[in-house]
Amino acid sequence: MPSDSQRSSATLLTHAAQLLTLRYPSGDTGPRRGAQTRELGLIEDGALLIADGKIVTVGTTGEVAKHEFLTAAPAHIEEIDCSGKVVLPGFVDSHTHPVFTAPRLMDFEKRISGASYEAIAEAGGGIRASLRGVRDARTEELAEHIVSGLGEMAAYGTTTVECKSGYGLNFAAEMKSLEAIREASHQCPGYVAATLMAAHVVPPEHRENPEEYVRIICADMIPTAAKLKLASFVDVFVERGAFTMEQSQRILRSAVEHNLGVRAHVCQLTPAKLAPLLQFHPASLDHMDFVSDEDAALLARLDTIATLLPAANYFLGLDKFPPARKLIDVGVAVALATDYNPGTSPTTSMPFVLSAACTHMKMSPAEAIVAATYNGACALRLQGRKGSIEPGKDADIAIFEAEDYRELAYWFGVNRCRQTLLNGIAYSQGANGH
Ligand code: NIG
Ligand code: FE
Repeated sequence: MPSDSQRSSATLLTHAAQLLTLRYPSGDTGPRRGAQTRELGLIEDGALLIADGKIVTVGTTGEVAKHEFLTAAPAHIEEIDCSGKVVLPGFVDSHTHPVFTAPRLMDFEKRISGASYEAIAEAGGGIRASLRGVRDARTEELAEHIVSGLGEMAAYGTTTVECKSGYGLNFAAEMKSLEAIREASHQCPGYVAATLMAAHVVPPEHRENPEEYVRIICADMIPTAAKLKLASFVDVFVERGAFTMEQSQRILRSAVEHNLGVRAHVCQLTPAKLAPLLQFHPASLDHMDFVSDEDAALLARLDTIATLLPAANYFLGLDKFPPARKLIDVGVAVALATDYNPGTSPTTSMPFVLSAACTHMKMSPAEAIVAATYNGACALRLQGRKGSIEPGKDADIAIFEAEDYRELAYWFGVNRCRQTLLNGIAYSQGANGH
């Protein structure tokens, strides 16, 4: 039994109209695919007990009231009445680029006037337009910006966030970006997974010799990030105008050699074959707008997650969205994330992503919720701790003003998240400068 001092941090949530556990009955710990993507483990009049940042027990309000923790020592327990609320695991935003300093308003206006993302990048806008701000900023300034983004995310129900570097694009600025992510993670109660994405685009100083930049990534940046434990993953933008498949393979091979996980942006603007990437066992392949039927069938046999980012399609004004139906129906495990970044997806809102996924990708609200929580955790290989409400897991919880889970994807452009618990700690507006 816990001691009295440990008991003081206990929290009891009761009477949730719907509590979504996302617990899978068979106890299977792999990613959810096919019909599993619709299983929410829903409990009506749900309750949940938290102590020391972990979930102790979950069930109906009546069942949880009988738990020995409560019957033995009812004192020191903060109760949150969740009547009229939907309670679910906090969102896992498994793909974000928060290390930037300013919005790209010129790009925004150019695109409104008809220029494409690629044309804007070729004319000096795009990712390279964010470079100067990051290179000039101090680590603390970058960290402050990241903390502000993480605070917004928490306000929308997100408790775990993957954060990529990728706007520094030289050794010093990429390492500074990763240090800023680490600094920000120390200031926030949620979980942050850091990713080195020096392979975002080739910086201007290496434009004539991209091979030299790839060499620096493999020989200097990846070994240093691994040695200093500044990143868990390495990401690469495999695309026309960014990195070739061959360069990407070299980068991911170096990552694997240094025991870092790998992931890639692929098939965002043009089709690509996935096999050359799959040999590195990527945790996720992201965007996937142009994935082929054959590669979808291949992915269905693997634990690699297809992370779909519909907010980017929305913001770029595209007619086409990632092919969620095709992927889910053949058995690919799908996650949803914001892709928060200044060029293609300036949003921190996972509820907006759910809305876009349902309306434009024909995912059901249940599928969108599984993709934004449990499968997002799988995309970060964190499903042992995150992504579902089960005893022993981290107490990452979002509480929404709703009687029915479908409302999470129904209301858009408004924030109905009323409270977020990150490792059992309540996020409150006003903390972290909000
Ligand atoms: O995921 N595709 C590459 N990276 C980002 C865009 C970054 C930017 O334009 O600043 C994305 O969409
Ligand atoms: Fe991205």
